Amino acid sequence: MQAIDRLDPAARAYIDLLSRCLTRELFLDQEWWDVDLRDWPGDPDDLRSVLGARRWRLVRRGDPAARAEGRDWPPTAETMIGGARLANVVECCVTALLDGVPGDLVETGVWRGGTTILMRGILEALGDVDRRVWVADSFEGLPAPGADAHPTDVGLDWSGVEVLKVGADEVRANFARYGLLDERVCFLEGWFADTLPRAPIDRVAVLRLDGDLYGSTMDALRALEPRVVPGGFVVVDDYGGWEPCRAAVGDYRSEFGITSPIIEVDWTGVYWRKD
Ligand SMILES: C[S@@+](CC[C@H](N)C(=O)[O-])C[C@H]1O[C@@H](n2cnc3c(N)ncnc32)[C@H](O)[C@@H]1O
Repeated sequence: MQAIDRLDPAARAYIDLLSRCLTRELFLDQEWWDVDLRDWPGDPDDLRSVLGARRWRLVRRGDPAARAEGRDWPPTAETMIGGARLANVVECCVTALLDGVPGDLVETGVWRGGTTILMRGILEALGDVDRRVWVADSFEGLPAPGADAHPTDVGLDWSGVEVLKVGADEVRANFARYGLLDERVCFLEGWFADTLPRAPIDRVAVLRLDGDLYGSTMDALRALEPRVVPGGFVVVDDYGGWEPCRAAVGDYRSEFGITSPIIEVDWTGVYWRKD
C-alpha cells in the first residue's frame, strides 16, 4: 500500500489535485507549443514565409507522456519533474510524516518552485504545524563550471540558459498563488556552496537534490546529507539522466560508506532511505 492511501480522502484529493496543477497535467489540453520549424521535412524557409504571410503560427499540443515522465520543460507549470517524480515526493514526505520521522523538507534546485510548493501542501494536508520547507536555489540559473570543476562538469556550461533563471520573487508568487506562502517556507538564496553549509537547518526528513551538475549535487550532499535523520529520505532527480549527478552520488556514497539501496523512481529519479 502506498503512503498516500493511508490518508483520508480529502487529504488525498487535495494532494492529487495540487500535483496535477503544478505539472499542468490537468490542463494539458489547453497547452500549445510552437513547432520548431527546423523539423519541417521540406524547406523551413518556405514554410516560414507561408506562415508569415498569413500571420499564422504552427503549434502542437503538449505531450502527456513527456509531462508524466518529466522530459519536457513546460511553458507555465511550476515544476518540470513530471507526474512520476512528483508522486515519489508525495510518497517520501507522507511516509516521513506518518512514520513520525522528525525534520524539515528540503529541495536544492527548485526552478519555479513547484516541488517545494507540493511539499508545503503536504504539510498542510496532514495538519503538520511545525516543520519547515527549505527552498534553495541561486534563483539565477546554473553556475558556469569553474577552473576547479569536476571532469564530468567540464564543458557543461548551462549558465546562459534563460529558462532556468527564475527569480526568488517569482517563486514566492507561485507559492502565494496556491495560498502556501508563509513563514514556514524558508528561502536560501545563492549558490549552494555558500548558502547550504551555514543554513540553520537542524534535521532533515526529506532531502531532494535537483541541481543537475556534479558540483551542485556534491555541495548539497556534503552540506545536508549528514543532517538527514535515520528513516529520512534522500531523493536525487538527475541520477539516471545525468552522468555528473550520478558520479557525485557515487563518490559521496563511497566516501561515507552509504549502502542503503538506491531505488529507481523513473528514467532518471532515484532515492534511498537512510538506515
Ligand atoms: C532542473 S532545475 C530544478 C527543477 C525543479 N526541482 C522542479 O521541480 O522543476 C535546476 C535548478 O538548480 C539550480 N541550481 C543548480 N546548481 C545550483 C547551485 N550550485 N547553486 C544554486 N542553485 C543551483 C538552478 O538555478 C535551477 O533552478
